[in-house]
Amino acid sequence: MTSRDIRQKYIEFFVKKGHKEIAPVPLVLEDDSTTLFTSSGMQPLVPYLKGQSHPEGTKLVDSQPCLRLEDIDEVGDSRHTTFFEMLGNWSLGEYFKKEQLSYFWEFLTEELKLEREKLYVSVFEGGSGVGKDEETVKIWKSLEVPEDHIYFYGVKKNWWSRTGTPDKMPPGEIGGPDSEVFYEFTQVKHDPKYGEKCHPNCDCGRFMEIGNCVFIQYVKKEEGTLEELAQKNVDFGGGLERITAAVGDQPDVFGVDLFEGLIKQIETDTDREYAGENKQTMRIIADHMRASTFLIINGVIPSNKMQGYVLRRLLRRSAVKIQKLNPDKIVKVLVETSKKVLENYDGMFGVEKEKQVGLVGEVITTEIERFGKTLDKGLKEVQKIDKINGKAAFDLYQTFGFPLELTEELFREKGQEIKREEFYKEFEKHKELSRTAGIGVFKGGLIADTPKTRKLHTTAHLLQASLRQILGEHVQQKGQNITEERLRFDFSHNSPLSKEEIEKVEKLINEKIEEDLSVSYKTVTLDEAIKEGALGFFKEKYRDTVTVYTIGDPSTRQTRGSLFSREICGGPHVEHTGEIGSVTITKEESAGAGIRRIYIKLL
Ligand code: GLY
Repeated sequence: MTSRDIRQKYIEFFVKKGHKEIAPVPLVLEDDSTTLFTSSGMQPLVPYLKGQSHPEGTKLVDSQPCLRLEDIDEVGDSRHTTFFEMLGNWSLGEYFKKEQLSYFWEFLTEELKLEREKLYVSVFEGGSGVGKDEETVKIWKSLEVPEDHIYFYGVKKNWWSRTGTPDKMPPGEIGGPDSEVFYEFTQVKHDPKYGEKCHPNCDCGRFMEIGNCVFIQYVKKEEGTLEELAQKNVDFGGGLERITAAVGDQPDVFGVDLFEGLIKQIETDTDREYAGENKQTMRIIADHMRASTFLIINGVIPSNKMQGYVLRRLLRRSAVKIQKLNPDKIVKVLVETSKKVLENYDGMFGVEKEKQVGLVGEVITTEIERFGKTLDKGLKEVQKIDKINGKAAFDLYQTFGFPLELTEELFREKGQEIKREEFYKEFEKHKELSRTAGIGVFKGGLIADTPKTRKLHTTAHLLQASLRQILGEHVQQKGQNITEERLRFDFSHNSPLSKEEIEKVEKLINEKIEEDLSVSYKTVTLDEAIKEGALGFFKEKYRDTVTVYTIGDPSTRQTRGSLFSREICGGPHVEHTGEIGSVTITKEESAGAGIRRIYIKLL
């Protein structure tokens, strides 16, 4: 069975069970400032898991391209990747544990015909004030999963939220206990290096997790406690590449069809074999090129900021890996591998090979030619350094363009660790830190959903509408970043704002706050939203439905003012602008050619 067959079977199976297939979203969400990348299928569904009604109903299914950087250091083993496709199904307050576990079990054993003896499950043993999941154990037993195939783990393994364990969830974040299914590759011998006894969550490669049923039933409160959600949800996510590996009883995920062509291409172009040490190197290149290709077609270009920095890091790391295999072939390997990626996904997820192949090749070539000029010298410099410290890592970054993480990896190979604080201190000295995404953003990438961030999020909409009224309709949002302390907002405009203009903008926002306009939302098709004049500046348009937030909607009873702002946005927002209190613009500056930046604080 190919990955294409499995993807189709999964969607069809859940459609038969009454689910609606929804369109996947781009890897980089333009209207979601809380995260760098789509890292799970549930990401675009967060408002609906919290209770907002979804236009397609309460039972949903899709396959979603995802990017996770948390596992980047693990890439190179037989099963970790940064980019992957997540099969997902959801119950928004509809069915719960019994149906989910039965459906998934039926899919695995009857549709995919996986051998029952090779399937194991894990269940939440309790923790963080939430009890052991006895109900799930009963259900697995009723499905005839033998007792010795049921394992128990705590919050580290059997709790899921976008940010991890309950203590790591910011206020407003949702999550819950989960139950995972594992496939056992009996041909893989346990390696005692990973512990005396093998078990489903052992890292030796004998077991592979192929699906995670999350019972999203908690939300983190500001006080730090977990509260039951009114709506009990199911959020299932399973990696298509891994499920395909299990179906083929193939312990190396890089051996499945989605990777096979890529690895072959790398072998041909480097004239090296996928064997021994080269295996790990080729897996990393194949993985990173899938991620990079998707990032580029999503409009990301290599830079020192946010998503652009991640792309730069993936491409430069790949270049260093190819350097080891065959230094003359760096650009060729990267470009040819990216073509294979486009081929694998042609016609899906916004991929149009013929149209995009030129762009992807150009972005890669430009970046690697730039890096290639200093790569050799940089690597020689690395060899010369006896003891690496933050300052040396910073010099490598600034002079040779070595991303910090790459330098760290090169010294881990030499048995050295870099103190990140030292590196960042150097950065601060050069006043560049605020222009660059720090590791905090890369790892979690989420901001808290608190009363303050909600107020600032609504302020961002008021700001954009005010800027367009005062400066003109050419103003378009270019970026946004919200912390508990302030809103940072980038927009297109050619000249610095005068003192008078800043005052006018601030005054208009505060007037709209005082008018206490209602903030309402509805979900419509993208076409409808655009027809209605909702603002939203997307590069990618392959999603069907969007949420439109309106401030001062004349059709709502409570509204005193008239329509002021209408934007495509994922929320969350305050309900009435009066909740914001009042705001002040603290700074206005340039953020690049033709882009201005404004900082706003709550008073
Ligand atoms: N959303 C479930 C998972 O990512 O495992």
